[in-house]
Amino acid sequence: IRVYKPNWWVLLGDMGTGKTSLVLRFVKGQFSEYQESTIGAAFFTQVLSLNEATVKFDIWDTAGQERYHSLAPMYYRGAAAAIIVYDITSTDSFVRAKKWVREVQRQANPNLIMFLVANKADLEDQRKVGNEEGEEYAKENSMSFFETSAKTAQNVNELFYEIGKRLARA
Ligand code: GTP
Repeated sequence: IRVYKPNWWVLLGDMGTGKTSLVLRFVKGQFSEYQESTIGAAFFTQVLSLNEATVKFDIWDTAGQERYHSLAPMYYRGAAAAIIVYDITSTDSFVRAKKWVREVQRQANPNLIMFLVANKADLEDQRKVGNEEGEEYAKENSMSFFETSAKTAQNVNELFYEIGKRLARA
């Protein structure tokens, strides 16, 4: 069976949490220590082959800098999935992630699937946000939770394949 679903996903989160790095790790298998901050938003497209379906999707990687906040609704309204990213070494980024969750819950398409992603899991020695804190918050908000590292590739494919599978079922 070949299923073609036009859909797009959006990444949201504070600046520097690793949104672009996660997408580049997934789409190109690359990582850069000197990834530049996104201006406005960046667009990627990808095809995933799952067991019974081929899912083609677009990813909007939004800019985390506050001055671009007003652009975000253009990308999350109508999105099939939102990936909200924080950095385990920054409590501020976790606070910001929770604000994104509330905003998206209020404003986006009610069928949208939300994922909470705790990135930079390789920086365990600088961790400020406990794994349980993220997991707990995700559970309360019916989100799937992943701890990832764009640097080491930990859980990155798992995250994107899980989104694809969830949407293929939806
Ligand atoms: P904005 O575009 O400003 O919103 O940032 P962003 O969320 O897209 O973050 P970006 O991917 O630009 O990464 C910011 C910095 O964190 C870069 O220096 C990356 O190399 C670094 N980085 C991203 N992911 C990881 C990770 O998993 N581990 C480590 N150690 N560094 C990471």
